[in-house]
Amino acid sequence: MKSEEIKATDLNPQQFIAKKIVQISGAVGDEKAINALSGGVDSSTVTMLAHRALGDKLLTYFIDHGLMRQDEPQQISSLFREFGVNVEIIDAKDKFFNALKGITDPEAKREAIVQTFYKDVFGRLVRESGAKHLLQGTILTDVDETLAGIKRQHNVFEQLGIDPEQSFGYKIIEPLIQLRKDGVRKVAVALGLPESIYNRMPFLGPALAGRVIGEVTPERIKTVRQATIITEQELANTPAFQYMAILHADKVTGMRACLPTGKNGNLTAVRQVRDYGSQIEIRCWESIDARTATPTRLHWKILDRLAKRITTEVSGIVSVTYNITPKPPSTMEAV
Ligand code: XMP
Repeated sequence: MKSEEIKATDLNPQQFIAKKIVQISGAVGDEKAINALSGGVDSSTVTMLAHRALGDKLLTYFIDHGLMRQDEPQQISSLFREFGVNVEIIDAKDKFFNALKGITDPEAKREAIVQTFYKDVFGRLVRESGAKHLLQGTILTDVDETLAGIKRQHNVFEQLGIDPEQSFGYKIIEPLIQLRKDGVRKVAVALGLPESIYNRMPFLGPALAGRVIGEVTPERIKTVRQATIITEQELANTPAFQYMAILHADKVTGMRACLPTGKNGNLTAVRQVRDYGSQIEIRCWESIDARTATPTRLHWKILDRLAKRITTEVSGIVSVTYNITPKPPSTMEAV
């Protein structure tokens, strides 16, 4: 069943917050609830709503699955600790990499992440803490795309006929299910979250695993993470909705400068040698709510810098491309 949409233009954030606080504390009662914070605007907004509703009855975890961007677990946890939210980082890297081993199909990858998150990691946290509820930041766009069969979003269950209590042993509360991204940002502002959070570029639940085509390994995540640092630095000044680096599975023939030295140790002419390497695809999107999107017309100078930096600073990359296809028919992420 789909929830009725509240459009950002019709949303009164303070009324919404007051209503959700009552609903959350009513549903949880005297029990405990847990939630996972990733630092995205959706999970951050749910964390603050639930913190206001439940105080110490809320246990907030940052699941470090090894798929996040550089230093994200530490940065986000310390930011929320400043807001009085006691965030615990859970090291689950081995669990996720083991679950993803050998998988290349996009939907099978998403399913492996879903099962590891909800059954394995949250299942254990719920059992150990005695919590009965999990709060999460599913929004209407996640439900739409899952129901349309485009992508299995990592956080959609009931709308697919899956009962989380039966499958995983706990109830799921979704306070943002009637909103889209623009509405969530308004609520985040009203909750007093900083601009680094309410204007944070969307980042997908499956994290960098969704930006690796083919098998997800620690080495391939390291490669896409390095390309992501450069992409985010170079595109930081564009007003785009979202930008990303994607690691392709196919290798291509490239060449690399080799500086041979002569007999007496002096440098001789630069020689190019064959380098069979990997490819990074850059995407940069204009969008309001992620339902449709168009590629940003980036200046050639920016594209040129991205290509130069990624091929010299990221080991093993010999080719950088830019996606010029709108959504639809493309989707924003590659997996
Ligand atoms: P797509 O690739 O479906 O992305 O065009 C639309 C928006 O959704 C984000 N996205 C996800 N967010 N869980 C999430 O929380 C997911 O499984 C997921 N997959 C895609 C994507 O980053 C974009 O903003």
